[in-house]
Amino acid sequence: MGLIPIKIDEIYEAEVIDLENEAAGVCKVKGVTVFVPKTLVGEKIRFRITEIKKNFARGKLIEILSPSEKRVKSSCPYYEECGGCDLRHQSDDENLIFKRNKVIKALEKIGKIKTEVKPVVPSFKNENYRNKASFKVENDRIGFYGSGTYQLVDISYCKLLEDKINDALLIIRSYLKNNKNEIKTITIKLGNAMGELLIDVYSTDLKDEKIKDYLISNVKDLKVIVFNGKTVYGNGYIGQICNGLMFNCSSDSFFQVNSVQVERLYKIAIKEAKLSKNDVVLDLYCGTGTISCIVSSYVKKVIGIEIVEDAVIDANCNARINGITNSRFICGDVAKEISKIKEKIDVIFVDPPRKGIDRKAIAVMKKILPKKIVYISCNPVTMARDLSYLNDLYNVKEVTPVDMFPNTCHVECVCLLEKH
Ligand SMILES: C[S@@+](CC[C@H](N)C(=O)[O-])C[C@H]1O[C@@H](n2cnc3c(N)ncnc32)[C@H](O)[C@@H]1O
Repeated sequence: MGLIPIKIDEIYEAEVIDLENEAAGVCKVKGVTVFVPKTLVGEKIRFRITEIKKNFARGKLIEILSPSEKRVKSSCPYYEECGGCDLRHQSDDENLIFKRNKVIKALEKIGKIKTEVKPVVPSFKNENYRNKASFKVENDRIGFYGSGTYQLVDISYCKLLEDKINDALLIIRSYLKNNKNEIKTITIKLGNAMGELLIDVYSTDLKDEKIKDYLISNVKDLKVIVFNGKTVYGNGYIGQICNGLMFNCSSDSFFQVNSVQVERLYKIAIKEAKLSKNDVVLDLYCGTGTISCIVSSYVKKVIGIEIVEDAVIDANCNARINGITNSRFICGDVAKEISKIKEKIDVIFVDPPRKGIDRKAIAVMKKILPKKIVYISCNPVTMARDLSYLNDLYNVKEVTPVDMFPNTCHVECVCLLEKH
């Protein structure tokens, strides 16, 4: 391709012809594809070019010249600038349709898989559902980056977050206003078992550890403070209750962000697996052992593999506190550890990070050849790619998208594969 015929800061008008994977509108200008967030198909828009890449450009919406009938007014005052949400300008029902189409498109285009995709299971709550927020900090400002930028949008409330996290945000804001600091990020997690908070602060100045005393005095139900990776207050973990079991989760351990909807996600995964008492299950990318512990009562044995050491410590503790005696957790890279498994495996649950399953791990999964694989994914694109690698040995039987992230473009999927 020759030189791209458009320039930064130029202003154009065009019609939105599609929504891409992350829900930005797709426009064509002088043959160049331009992605403009927070627009809808059929809308005529005016936008400014903000970024030019080799094969495409990005733009920022200036004005909607003719709105789509699907457009709704966002009730968030930060929505225009903030990158936290991308689908507040469309109704919840339309968002579910977008998410289902996104899964279908990924399966067809990337995976070359044509299969029935069920309607998206809606979230119990569309607001105040997140149990975790990672805020960026710049001096006395705290918030999220803007869509597609590294410009901080200073916020005092986020509609996605559980209220207790918003309350803590206000307290932290007032600390930042009154204390010069070099803090870069603050992560707040809420444990649903006791309503306790974990606050994890990262700063380039060790003196900022003094925020600890302020947080202890002012934040209600604060259980843990982590400063630059070290627990400086509390015993290091908060408790989550999920599907009737208790899970300890420390700062670096993964736990699904939508505490209520996650119960549905796991129930769907377990129902689809149709487990039996003689099954030996492998739980790849097992985190704090949530899936392992929940399936343990249906099967003979479960083995989890997870790379984060603290998560494996949590997983072992979680099995113990729930009285589970048929589980084993291995700390390490799935790509390496999976080939050391000696047991005959009947079912694999695999719930990888966004980048999907390591290619080497897929090769070993195919040698293990379980009768079923339940693939749980937060990224339909990498899921579709991985399914295409498994396609020669496995049929895709069920695809159930689950809305874990309302008001954003993201969707979780449970996919059942059965051996041909
Ligand atoms: C999407 S989370 C799933 C966690 C768990 N299944 C759950 O439902 O809570 C993905 C997990 O994979 C872990 N992980 C990432 N890369 C890994 C690797 N190469 N080997 C093993 N675990 C890995 C992460 O630490 C994280 O806990």
